[in-house]
Amino acid sequence: MTRLVAGNWKMNGSLAANSALLEGLAVPVGVEVAVCVPFPYLAQLQQRPAGLALGAQDVSEFESGAYTGEVSAAMLADFGCRYVIVGHSERRALFGEDDEVVGRKARAAMAAGVVPIVCVGETLTERDEGRVMQVIGRQLEAVIKVLGAQAMSAVVLAYEPVWAIGSGRSAEVAQVAEVHAGIREWLRRQGVAAGSVRILYGGSVKAENAAALFAVPEVDGGLIGGASLVARDFMTICRAAAGVV
Ligand code: PGA
Repeated sequence: MTRLVAGNWKMNGSLAANSALLEGLAVPVGVEVAVCVPFPYLAQLQQRPAGLALGAQDVSEFESGAYTGEVSAAMLADFGCRYVIVGHSERRALFGEDDEVVGRKARAAMAAGVVPIVCVGETLTERDEGRVMQVIGRQLEAVIKVLGAQAMSAVVLAYEPVWAIGSGRSAEVAQVAEVHAGIREWLRRQGVAAGSVRILYGGSVKAENAAALFAVPEVDGGLIGGASLVARDFMTICRAAAGVV
């Protein structure tokens, strides 16, 4: 399947900085590339390099109405978002999003035709305790419970070990391969057409380690934080995903 590289700008950017960054982006052939930007910049990104898909970083679980400060999935669709990140570990840890909220947000996105990029992953303590697949299974369970097995095959998953995010310390290739295979096996056991689910890796993906990570057969792309803010680095990562190193 075509790999997907999604940039997660997080809470970074300005109108001027975004324009400069976008000038340096040219989507290579053979890979799908998206940028997930802060809500106010969805308007600015209506003008963007050819072939670059648009995404957001969060979405309301509610459809519309009296939910001050929330942004609905329909609004994201209105702005042409193909993707939305759901359940990023920063939202889980800092904004109290539990597995059930993440499931409902994924459902809200799907209902509006926006593909959720559902993030899962363990903390270092959970890894040390040997509970990686137990934790990820619990996180996935909450999503499949609301979506059902069939719709689950249409989501994008991102394995992001919490300890690898923004730390400069990517997971080892062998660790990534093991967890991605574990996730696919888990999906299969739930009756999901696991072969068609894109599973991205995220956590300190850089220009230097991208090719090695994308060489893992189970890795269908990447969710890129820090390195997506530097056009040259992000392009190197995209080319690595396209197989043009
Ligand atoms: P990072 O972030 O690439 O800066 O580690 C990844 C993410 O949080 O999605």
